[in-house]
Amino acid sequence: MNLLYAVSLLYAIHTVLCDDNSIASLFGTSPRQDLNFVELAKYDGYTAEKHYVTTEDGYILGLFRLPIKASCNASKGVIMFFHGLYLSADDCLIPGPGKAHCYVYADNCYDIWAPNVRGNFYSRNHTTYNPDSDSKFWDFSVDQMALYDLPAAIDYVLAETNETQLSYVAHSQGVSMLLILCAKKPEYNAKIKVGFGLSPTAWLDHSRFIIIKLQSILAPGLTLTDNLLNVEVLKRNGLVNNAAELLCGTTDLAYPFCSVLIFAVLGYNKFQITDDVLPVVVGHIPSGTSLRNFIRWGQIQNNGFSEYDYGLVKNLVTYKKRSPPLYDLSPITMPWVLFASENDYVANVTDVKYLASKLKNVSVCVLSDTTFGHLDFIYGKDIPNYLTPPILSYLETGAYTCP
Ligand SMILES: *[C@@H]1O[C@H](CO)[C@@H](O)[C@H](O)[C@H]1NC(C)=O
Ligand SMILES: *[C@@H]1O[C@H](CO)[C@@H](O)[C@H](O)[C@H]1NC(C)=O
Ligand SMILES: *[C@@H]1O[C@H](CO)[C@@H](O)[C@H](O)[C@H]1NC(C)=O
Ligand SMILES: *[C@@H]1O[C@H](CO)[C@@H](O)[C@H](O)[C@H]1NC(C)=O
Ligand SMILES: *[C@@H]1O[C@H](CO)[C@@H](O)[C@H](O)[C@H]1NC(C)=O
Repeated sequence: MNLLYAVSLLYAIHTVLCDDNSIASLFGTSPRQDLNFVELAKYDGYTAEKHYVTTEDGYILGLFRLPIKASCNASKGVIMFFHGLYLSADDCLIPGPGKAHCYVYADNCYDIWAPNVRGNFYSRNHTTYNPDSDSKFWDFSVDQMALYDLPAAIDYVLAETNETQLSYVAHSQGVSMLLILCAKKPEYNAKIKVGFGLSPTAWLDHSRFIIIKLQSILAPGLTLTDNLLNVEVLKRNGLVNNAAELLCGTTDLAYPFCSVLIFAVLGYNKFQITDDVLPVVVGHIPSGTSLRNFIRWGQIQNNGFSEYDYGLVKNLVTYKKRSPPLYDLSPITMPWVLFASENDYVANVTDVKYLASKLKNVSVCVLSDTTFGHLDFIYGKDIPNYLTPPILSYLETGAYTCP
């Protein structure tokens, strides 16, 4: 049933793309669509810096900063923006000035940092492994991003800024990463002033997102293929070409194919993502991860917010159990504000409330606009109406009103 749905959806997308020779007519074009983070910031009138941080296990991550604006007297503190699954730091700039998360916080005199997880467009780099030739490079999932990438980024930023704490704004998998980190290394609780979770993903029991369904169907079988999972998927541009070639017999379609695939089903809402922003989104997603991480999210839908599933035999060795244990979230003491929407096909409100029931210091804001989708939390035109005001208000006063 689910598989049938997936296949018919693929067929529908194929028909639309292959019958229309001009992708531009589908998405339009924008002078911002092909710019990288630093170029995009410059185009939009901001200054951005690129930094590198090396994790304990050798991954070299690209980390961006929008330093305090010249018009500000002083820093109001550090905000780290962390992107979600298949995505990148670009997300916090894409809707443009006055709308994108990072620009709005920068305009309010915060020092903005946006890291990238291992393996994505900005973090295909390692001290020993070559991402193009060493499959070992791709041997990771969200668990390693949480336990190596995130603490490396946090410690680097606190050292660079000489601060003891930062505030964390994250989308989707970016939220999961901080949950896992504070659960496993509780000393990180003290380094986070507050976490704002945009469409937070932990339990996915009620997720209707088609790709998650696909992942959960594929996970049990593919988990057992183990080393075959150490490959790159959904690379920016790469697979897009391959998929277009495969489905339409031409590479002319090039870049947007995978974007459409992801995005046609990610709660894309044509009222929230405006015509000027749409081609910029399509030009910047997806940004790549490992097949192991792709499957990992299927495991999470099947098993709950649990540790890595190695399959029966290795689970018995590793965990002394047939199935992986749930993550113990009781060490998480830092405060969280979670934002959810009734129209989010990935992070269902029921699952977000369940996550909240496991946290000690948390409040949940369910948006009163019931049309807001998963990607609208980062690309939607109402970000400056629904999301940045409560976040800025919390940071300034400790209180906020849920929009
Ligand atoms: C900077 O400080 C001056 C003098 O104290 C004040 O008038 C101005 O509003 C401040 N600007 C900002 C952006 O805080
Ligand atoms: C890899 O990281 C180093 C910094 O450690 C940097 O100089 C180099 O440009 C990076 N390479 C790529 C392909 O990003
Ligand atoms: C960093 O902060 C400490 C304590 O707040 C202060 O003593 C020190 O001078 C600061 N260093 C820099 C480089 O700002
Ligand atoms: C939650 O965290 C905030 C900020 O650290 C703190 O002021 C508040 O007392 C905490 N509330 C609870 C119930 O622990
Ligand atoms: C959230 O889950 C509930 C209960 O399964 C379901 O009725 C609802 O349609 C889901 N919402 C979305 C947007 O998928």
